[in-house]
Amino acid sequence: MLDAGKSTERLHSGNLSSGEDGGVVQKKKGGIRPIWYWIAGVFVILAIAGAVVGALVAKDVIHVGSGKSAAAVGDTVGDTTETAGSPSETSSPPVESSDGSDSSVDTPSSSSTSGTGTPTSSTTSEKSTSKPTATAACTTSDEIPSKEKGTWMDTTSWLDMTGFNCTFTDATVGGLPIVGLKSTWDDSKQANANVPALNKPWGSYASKPFRGVSLGGWLSLEPFITPSLFPDTSLVDEYSLCKKLGPKEAAKTLEKHYSTFITEDDFKAIAAAGLDHVRIPFSYWAVKTYDDDPYVQGISWRYLLRGIEWARAHGLRVKLDLHGAPGSQNGWNHSGRQGTLDWLEGPHGALNAQRTLDIHVQLAKFFSQDRYKNIIAFYGLINEPALALSQSDLILWTEKAFKVVKDNGFSGTQVFSESMRGLEPWQGTLTGYGDKLAIDVHQYTIFDNALTGLKHTERVNFACKAWTQASISGMNPASGFGPTMVGEWSQADTDCTKYLNGVGNGARWTGTFSGTTTPYCPTGDSKCSCDLANADASSYSKEYKLFLLTWAQAQMSAFEKTWGWFYWTWKTESAPQWSYQAGLAGGFMPPLAYQRSWDCSKTVPDFGSLPEFY
Ligand SMILES: *[C@@H]1O[C@H](CO)[C@@H](O)[C@H](O)[C@H]1NC(C)=O
Ligand SMILES: *[C@@H]1O[C@H](CO)[C@@H](O)[C@H](O)[C@H]1NC(C)=O
Repeated sequence: MLDAGKSTERLHSGNLSSGEDGGVVQKKKGGIRPIWYWIAGVFVILAIAGAVVGALVAKDVIHVGSGKSAAAVGDTVGDTTETAGSPSETSSPPVESSDGSDSSVDTPSSSSTSGTGTPTSSTTSEKSTSKPTATAACTTSDEIPSKEKGTWMDTTSWLDMTGFNCTFTDATVGGLPIVGLKSTWDDSKQANANVPALNKPWGSYASKPFRGVSLGGWLSLEPFITPSLFPDTSLVDEYSLCKKLGPKEAAKTLEKHYSTFITEDDFKAIAAAGLDHVRIPFSYWAVKTYDDDPYVQGISWRYLLRGIEWARAHGLRVKLDLHGAPGSQNGWNHSGRQGTLDWLEGPHGALNAQRTLDIHVQLAKFFSQDRYKNIIAFYGLINEPALALSQSDLILWTEKAFKVVKDNGFSGTQVFSESMRGLEPWQGTLTGYGDKLAIDVHQYTIFDNALTGLKHTERVNFACKAWTQASISGMNPASGFGPTMVGEWSQADTDCTKYLNGVGNGARWTGTFSGTTTPYCPTGDSKCSCDLANADASSYSKEYKLFLLTWAQAQMSAFEKTWGWFYWTWKTESAPQWSYQAGLAGGFMPPLAYQRSWDCSKTVPDFGSLPEFY
């Protein structure tokens, strides 16, 4: 984030206690004094101390007789410094309890660490409630308030406690629970030696592009990423899955998936691969559900929060990505519900667009807490709204969304989607945001009949020429939007992956895609086969691996002419050309993303006898 350094300094300079001590007590050197001198001295000291305490109480710096003091001290320090330093920045919103009333629970920002893991305020000592110690045992079932018992807020019902704080709290920020979060955090990690630690500013993305990966299919399901969750073809998306399973079973199935599909080891491996950012897609039901939605509400929220903490532990910056919006913004299975587009347009389009803004109010409040200032590099407003939507309506909605997110405290960079239009149509639109608004383009060759059939060398050249050019011209406000990132791309050179085009649908490559019979593989005839593309990566030939590696590195070179890239995706159950992890394991991804064996300035290698049709 651009102002990362500043907010760290604020925490350092905002150490109230040292200033306080220094002002009140001063040791005096000297000889023996008469007793009246000491008595008078004690009175003077008591009077000064009383006046200071009185003044602080009056200024609301110290709260008398409640557990609120630590939070109040933290917030006030933040406010004071901000007012002096940068008046435009808003402070963290106060913590509310879930019934909307003021809460006496500490905000997570109150005892923030200054990069060393040491709390700066006296949080722990002032929290002298009924709980014996700060490191008390987990909240037990009989301690959970009755209205939360058995709900997803009930910590005693959580499947997986790894890395979570198991002390129950009903405190919320923006109406979103903080339960599970620890009170302190450490922003001193660096993803690798070439990039700054989280508590140092990244600098200009235009001159130092990021390298990242998405955690697709984790908090927003996609059949092709985890086909095992979609065992029969009546299950086509998260909606139909949840409906079939019913609330209880759906919650169980999904929580098991959240807790096992992505673990801390994944974040560790992502950093070890020389990547420095992660994009985390999640859907609106992490926050709330509406009407008769079958989605599992809330459980993915805590896994999102834990994921961010794990990213932090490994120095990875985060792009939040609202992947599914109420009503579905594109009618695609990965938005939650396939087949209907009811967002911005459609019977409830206006309502659902407004609901999405309301969700952004909550999310923006939550993610503008101090603890997120250094780590949320990008805030994605909505993933891939349909091409069918009117661009001018999308622009109006994006303007509103930007304002809502900014006005609710998020001061970092927001990101909107080119919505399958490409970059040129956005030239001259949504101007005046500087580096605070970036456009996200997704680059694939396999969802387009004309590009699907490129031969291997042609495909590599396409990335090096067409996409390099698109990146450069997209970044130039005279020909594109300006700040640009490639939010998705993959190594797939066919659309053969099972369920990629939707459960029950075939592939353009072989002419089995719904509504078409023309095979689009390079030979365009009955030779077109998905066998090799869908084979286990261990059976890939040396030549095919060399092609996949070159193809990936060509795209990386092209996309690094923008602010950076996110590969889609980190992990799949059985689609190696969509899995960064499988590419690393199979030797067809560069072991370190920042240290590559080939780039577009070199000649495309000879792929030998590799067939063009499989
Ligand atoms: C766990 O959560 C409670 C309630 O929010 C908080 O008071 C406590 O400080 C947290 N513990 C740790 C280790 O951060
Ligand atoms: C399902 O999702 C995939 C991408 O994951 C997409 O290519 C496909 O078109 C979707 N299917 C339908 C019918 O929306």
